[in-house]
Amino acid sequence: MKTLVLKITGDAKNDEAAIAKAAEIIRNGGTVAFPTETVYGLGANALRGESVQKIYAAKGRPSWNPLIVHVSSRDMLNSLVTDYPQGFDKLAAKFMPGPLTFLLPKSDKIPDEVSAGRNDVAVRMPKHEIARKLIEAAGVPIAAPSANRSGRTSPTSAEHVLEDLDGRIDAVLDGGTCDVGVESTVINLMAQPPMILRPGGVSKEAIEETLGMPVTLFEKSAEGTDVKALPSPGMMLRHYAPNAKLYNIEGDKYALFAAADKAAKEGNKVGVLLPSDWQLPENIKAEVYDYGTWGDWDTMARRVFAGLRGLDRKKVDVIFAPMPPKEGLGLAIRDRLLRAAK
Ligand code: TXA
Ligand code: MG
Repeated sequence: MKTLVLKITGDAKNDEAAIAKAAEIIRNGGTVAFPTETVYGLGANALRGESVQKIYAAKGRPSWNPLIVHVSSRDMLNSLVTDYPQGFDKLAAKFMPGPLTFLLPKSDKIPDEVSAGRNDVAVRMPKHEIARKLIEAAGVPIAAPSANRSGRTSPTSAEHVLEDLDGRIDAVLDGGTCDVGVESTVINLMAQPPMILRPGGVSKEAIEETLGMPVTLFEKSAEGTDVKALPSPGMMLRHYAPNAKLYNIEGDKYALFAAADKAAKEGNKVGVLLPSDWQLPENIKAEVYDYGTWGDWDTMARRVFAGLRGLDRKKVDVIFAPMPPKEGLGLAIRDRLLRAAK
């Protein structure tokens, strides 16, 4: 199939037409990649199983890995779930819309293809204006995982989407680059205490402060565990992988430089996700991607996926990435880098 590129230009008439076209494709059962504040999603009508199946086919996604449903209003959300657990109102008041996904008991409107046969559905209201307008125009909730081939790095631009999915999806709505850069935080409020199933765009600290209580973090259990029995099956996957071999470096800049130097001397083409304020010694041969100032985890989150893809495009053999601490969005960056390096 030919993938239609619908460009958002800032011209009101053009943009309205682009969104209307994308909405029509969704209503007619097709697939459209669209920008959100986190990463690009690959959307289809969440109320129709046969439309949702096209997402799995385009991505090569295993059928046991459920999808997030995106809504544009509380009314739309109300029709998809049967109950709201304790804590929902507090978090929704602050992060809905926003990069926070809630696991909620699903109503019978949600097809099995969306929830992968589970009793709960993951739901999020994106903050991104184009995403919101698309859902409103489509008039239906939109199921959307990240718009990458399964196992690959999540896309933060329409170019990234086309790198992976050109010819496999009906259209991409090109709304520029994503602001947050890592996916939403997924939270299960029905667990006692509440459990973050995937760290993401809303920090653990912000959630705890809003709820006024500590929450736990789902840590991936050993390899070989039955994915269907896990609270969040997607967390089991090797994911976000660049073509190059990724090495995560704990410790200071000297540890990073030493590792890069050694690999270069062994004959590898080396890539480095390099904080802007770390000066790479001149004798070390490496391609560098400007990662933002060390300590500015928000900027590093925005750049991490683009950095991995950018270094891949330079055909490096190995990539070295400094690991941020488990603080703010550093937690989400660490999670993505750990799974990309497996
Ligand atoms: O920011 C985001 O969340 C992006 C944008 C497009 O909204 N979406 C996204 O979707 O990252 P995806 O499919 O790449 O990741 C969804 C995660 C997976 O780890 C999946 O296993 C988990 O959420 N998940 C979805 N539905 C679930 C459910 N019913 N129960 C448990 N985990 C679920
Ligand atoms: Mg994904």
